[in-house]
Amino acid sequence: MNTELWLLDPQVTFLNHGSFGACPQRVLETQQRWQRILERDPVDFFLHRAEPLMHEVRETLAGVMNCAAEDLALIPNATTGINTVLRSLDLQVGDHLLGISQTYGACRSTLDWVAQRAGAQVNYAQLPWPVEDPDQIVEIILKTVTPKTRLALVDSITSPTGLVLPIRAIVDGLKARGVETLIDGAHALGMVPLHLHDLGAGYFTSNAHKWLCTPKGSAVLHVRRDLQDGIKPLNLSHGVGWSGQAYASPFRMAFDWTGTDDPTPFLCIPEALRFLSGLYEGGLEGLMNRNRSLALKARGILCDALGISAPAPDSMIASLAAVPLPAMEWTPTSPEDISPLQKRLYDEHLIQVPIFPFPSGSSPVLRVAVQAYNELRDYEYLAEKLV
Ligand SMILES: Cc1ncc(COP(=O)(O)O)c(C=O)c1O
Repeated sequence: MNTELWLLDPQVTFLNHGSFGACPQRVLETQQRWQRILERDPVDFFLHRAEPLMHEVRETLAGVMNCAAEDLALIPNATTGINTVLRSLDLQVGDHLLGISQTYGACRSTLDWVAQRAGAQVNYAQLPWPVEDPDQIVEIILKTVTPKTRLALVDSITSPTGLVLPIRAIVDGLKARGVETLIDGAHALGMVPLHLHDLGAGYFTSNAHKWLCTPKGSAVLHVRRDLQDGIKPLNLSHGVGWSGQAYASPFRMAFDWTGTDDPTPFLCIPEALRFLSGLYEGGLEGLMNRNRSLALKARGILCDALGISAPAPDSMIASLAAVPLPAMEWTPTSPEDISPLQKRLYDEHLIQVPIFPFPSGSSPVLRVAVQAYNELRDYEYLAEKLV
């Protein structure tokens, strides 16, 4: 690992950027500077400076996500994005929602809860794992649509297996059947190129604190313009129902003030982008390409060590790669429970790598992440200690 520019413990082989990201020193210092500026005069900051600053951040994000800044709301995390959309829906008894077998646990709980509250039902598309062809996934998702499906929640990059799903074909196919898509892009921003305007999905949420490496508590929700009236923040505050302000839209007004909170993680987005873009030739896209090529090599090393073939086509890999592990005895008792193997890798070798009970505790996957600080030898070391 090359942790020089990061705050990561150099003793730890950190292969889990996917869970909570990691913030470079320079970006954290930027946050601390903003916190000091804010605290010099909190009233002036929140009343006069915050809104234009946040708008600049939205403009910066819009440049990366290829969409209009006006359609973006700054929110603390992807879980909030998913909850905001699902809990704004006016579901009726008998409506259907669509999820996938790899829907992130917290989002699955939300889907199930909003459906149960309304007397609706959730149909989960059972995605194959291992997977041979991304088209299989499109086909299975579209087959799960019923005439009553109101909305599909589909991941851009799946959590346990790190697969880049063919989102464009999924959104188009669902649209052709009259179904809007909420994309859980928790991992997308900073890991894969985004073209939200062209994609035309109803809703898209992503964390910045994962692959853009901003401080924790920074994420974004994109809502297509024609759907914005129906979407309200989880915290209704001054901006809801207020008219006569010089704000661009009621959507912006509602999301810009949801109660007093720390805006500094968002204010670090431009600095994080500058930092990441300066690491490799080709800027942010250069970093994405470098991470992808290392993820493919890492997966190859792990598959060789385990004596298995790659569980998904190369085209479905970006900065995460998962491999199925041999059967083990493990029955997780809570979402935070870790397998004995994960515990051994950390306790004995200081390797921080997640093992997920997917498809089950007895048949789990190990997922590695690749960020700028990782090197090939990190994965060689893991392979050596794994078997
Ligand atoms: C696919 C997916 N969705 C949502 C989340 C939730 O992200 P957060 O905890 O930042 O809200 C995660 C977190 O790992 C995730 O992997």
